[in-house]
Amino acid sequence: ESQVGSRIMSQSATPPRSVVGIGGRVAKPDYSEAKIVLAMVGLPARGKSYLSNKLMRYLQWLEYDVKVFNVGQLRRSRARQKREQGINENHSADYFSNDNREATRSREQLAQDSLEMLIEWLKAGGNVGIHDATNSTKERRTKIKERVEREKGIVVIFLESVCDDPAVIAANVALKVSSGDPDYKDMSPETAEADFLRRIQAYEKVYETITEPDLSYLRIKNVGAQVSVCRIHGYLQSRIAFYLMNLHLKPRSIFVSRHGESQFNVEGKIGGDAPLSERGLAYAKQLPNLIKDNIGDASLTVWTSTLQRTIQTAENLPYHKLTWKSLDELDAGVCDGMTYEEIEHAYPEDFVNRDEDKFNYRYRGGESYRDVVVRLEPVIMELERQENILIIGHQAILRCLYAYFHNLPQADLPYIKIPLHTVIKLTPKAYGCDEERYTLPIGAVDTHRPKPKSTQLVIPPSVSRRQYYADSETK
Ligand code: F6P
Repeated sequence: ESQVGSRIMSQSATPPRSVVGIGGRVAKPDYSEAKIVLAMVGLPARGKSYLSNKLMRYLQWLEYDVKVFNVGQLRRSRARQKREQGINENHSADYFSNDNREATRSREQLAQDSLEMLIEWLKAGGNVGIHDATNSTKERRTKIKERVEREKGIVVIFLESVCDDPAVIAANVALKVSSGDPDYKDMSPETAEADFLRRIQAYEKVYETITEPDLSYLRIKNVGAQVSVCRIHGYLQSRIAFYLMNLHLKPRSIFVSRHGESQFNVEGKIGGDAPLSERGLAYAKQLPNLIKDNIGDASLTVWTSTLQRTIQTAENLPYHKLTWKSLDELDAGVCDGMTYEEIEHAYPEDFVNRDEDKFNYRYRGGESYRDVVVRLEPVIMELERQENILIIGHQAILRCLYAYFHNLPQADLPYIKIPLHTVIKLTPKAYGCDEERYTLPIGAVDTHRPKPKSTQLVIPPSVSRRQYYADSETK
């Protein structure tokens, strides 16, 4: 076995354990042993940044500390500094040609500096540093491997993105030149596209696909069509490989809706397995039309939990249905079936603890939001693999799934507004997710308990206020 292989094996063969609290806080899992350099490989416009960001979102959701080190961004920020000193560097296609010796040296230096920053960051506590560069020659990859191997406890894996689908390449090129990319912001779209295509040609001249016998690597072809896995060992590495194997780029939407209003909702009780209220049944009746109006004749699969309020809500939907135990509502343990007032009275300390740190608080004999995130991991994996899906779920469950798709921070996750009688349509895009909300005009109680006043909710810049505070119009 190669040295790399054995180092990976010894690093983290088993899943990390979390520290368990009783009716109190659950600590973050101990991931301190996991240290990986994930070096991207591929021509420009092959979806490397897309894959880097997707992977980052997935691993962050699982609480790994992940950071993308984008060499293009470093190049631009250094060029900006030089401009301020009166030195103007030209980063048009010629800069990326191997015949341009000086520029090639400068690009090598940038890649190395970026790797050094990444290694420093890993040593300071990070788990997965993604080196987002073309890393397109054997020579460059050997340098990366040798450099990382000098660091004890850090492993390197390469992720090559190969793409020969002209439609995907064209879409990536269009995205690059139209998205306000700083390299092209002062050019007309035509000039920008021509320059970017010349840049790709410059890389094609020197590009070598991975064939090195001693590298640990994953090769992903046309995102989703084919994945090769070579010398990948260890828990986190395998998890990364499995995730990438499930990705695809086909256009699709993920619809999520809570069950119709339940009798427990009306009584203000949490948990349980109550049937729908009259208004909940009315929602179940009207839901099929809403969905049909939206997707027409496209195919769709409906996922429910095992609890009767979700199954009843899905009853009239004329699609294939699957029941998931993992989609059951957060288990409130000894508080199951109580109102918030009753909990405050019976378990005052627990009540305060939950308000103080809702994500980490685990109900006595029940679950925390963190526990739910862990149990939803297979659901996320399957969602990545599937096409149109409608999930009929529960408040806490849908908050966790929503936070994954919008990359929302843990502290805010348990307060996301997922009102009753509302369908949320999530459409994955190159970066992030588009969202639409449809509320049926059938009244329902509001089950959202706001965060106590003393703590401030931070809204990430990527999410609009409208989206984030989308208020229940069903009250
Ligand atoms: O109130 C409805 C409900 O789905 C309960 O069953 C569940 O305990 C609760 O929402 C989760 O929301 P929160 O975490 O805000 O209490």
